Amino acid sequence: MAVLGLGLGPMLVAASHSLSRRSPPGPTLPSFLISSTITRDAPSVLKSGLASILEVAKETATVLRHTCEGGSKATTENASGDTQLNLDLQTDALAFSTFSSNPAIHSCISEETPVHTPLTSTGTLTISFDPLDGSSIIGPNFTIGGIYTIWPSTDSLISKKGTSALASVIIMYGSRTTAFISCVGKGCMEVTLTNGKWLVTTEKVILKPTKKIFAPGNLRCVNTNPSYKKIVDHWINENYTLRYTGGMVPDICHIMSKEGGVFSNVSSDKNKQKLRFIYEVTGMAIMVEEAGGVYLDESLNRALERKVEDVDMRVGGVCGSTGEVEIFKKIFQS
Ligand SMILES: *[C@@H]1O[C@H](CO)[C@@H](O)[C@H](O)[C@H]1NC(C)=O
Ligand SMILES: *[C@@H]1O[C@H](CO)[C@@H](O)[C@H](O)[C@H]1NC(C)=O
Ligand SMILES: *[C@@H]1O[C@H](CO)[C@@H](O)[C@H](O)[C@H]1NC(C)=O
Ligand SMILES: *[C@@H]1O[C@H](CO)[C@@H](O)[C@H](O)[C@H]1NC(C)=O
Repeated sequence: MAVLGLGLGPMLVAASHSLSRRSPPGPTLPSFLISSTITRDAPSVLKSGLASILEVAKETATVLRHTCEGGSKATTENASGDTQLNLDLQTDALAFSTFSSNPAIHSCISEETPVHTPLTSTGTLTISFDPLDGSSIIGPNFTIGGIYTIWPSTDSLISKKGTSALASVIIMYGSRTTAFISCVGKGCMEVTLTNGKWLVTTEKVILKPTKKIFAPGNLRCVNTNPSYKKIVDHWINENYTLRYTGGMVPDICHIMSKEGGVFSNVSSDKNKQKLRFIYEVTGMAIMVEEAGGVYLDESLNRALERKVEDVDMRVGGVCGSTGEVEIFKKIFQS
């Protein structure tokens, strides 16, 4: 979640455009995109967008395997000792150049390059994304993530509602590389990168209504927010299991893999909300909802009902199993 301002994406895209005048064809679709119940009814343009994101994820996984980055250094060294671009910028540029070779994708905008950037004149989709979520935990080689949301739009996302997005792909770069693919109204599936190929590992991911797992983001808020203290006491007294890394992607995806639990990120005056709506929240909310869960904002309303006010809009919240989020809501409203 590093804030680096303008990334290098557009520059690299411009460079690659000057090399090849013709738009190369879109990506080859993995066969599960054509056959799975989650994606088979999706328009071919959407399938193509999903395939490009999976391509970016595969290349990003390779970059991460062969690069070390300690702490929050701005530059990194690879295996041969050459200084490289910061990983956020490197993976951002990789996404821009992959997306620009897909005629289905019109534009993209990312946390590193926060401007609506047209890539083709043919496409109908816009992709908003955070190429590497969890920069603060890259140093110790924790699991980090990538978050991609697909919108049916050729112009800016301003004033669009979260509910207008079509699909999301959430990638976890850990000891395994897994991706959760969700299409609105169709559900969520999990695929895993195995010997360079994506294989379906869960055909339909389901969040059960209750499960005693908690991931309490921004825990220091218990000192200034009595309701947060009450809910944390509830989780402890009820013998919930704590699973928390401080990375939004691994924390929520852990809940997805265990079929339930609750993730919260409560803010206070001192610790302002950090999660960005179009780069982080929309993609995660689509995934959680498509698995049968709930994602609420800080005023305890459905996060996807929010309208994009500006590209940097931040949204807090709570998500996970319906019953667990209900308990959270009750305690917060009491
Ligand atoms: C290291 O980075 C340099 C410069 O980007 C590149 O030319 C070289 O191939 C990389 N080496 C490895 C082993 O990744
Ligand atoms: C980080 O951990 C993964 C296994 O989870 C490993 O494959 C990778 O080489 C590690 N990265 C570095 C820079 O050591
Ligand atoms: C929590 O665990 C303790 C120790 O095993 C047990 O005595 C207690 O009854 C449990 N509480 C609940 C609410 O399950
Ligand atoms: C939770 O929010 C706080 C402040 O808003 C932020 O610093 C922290 O990184 C967030 N944690 C997660 C896991 O998203």
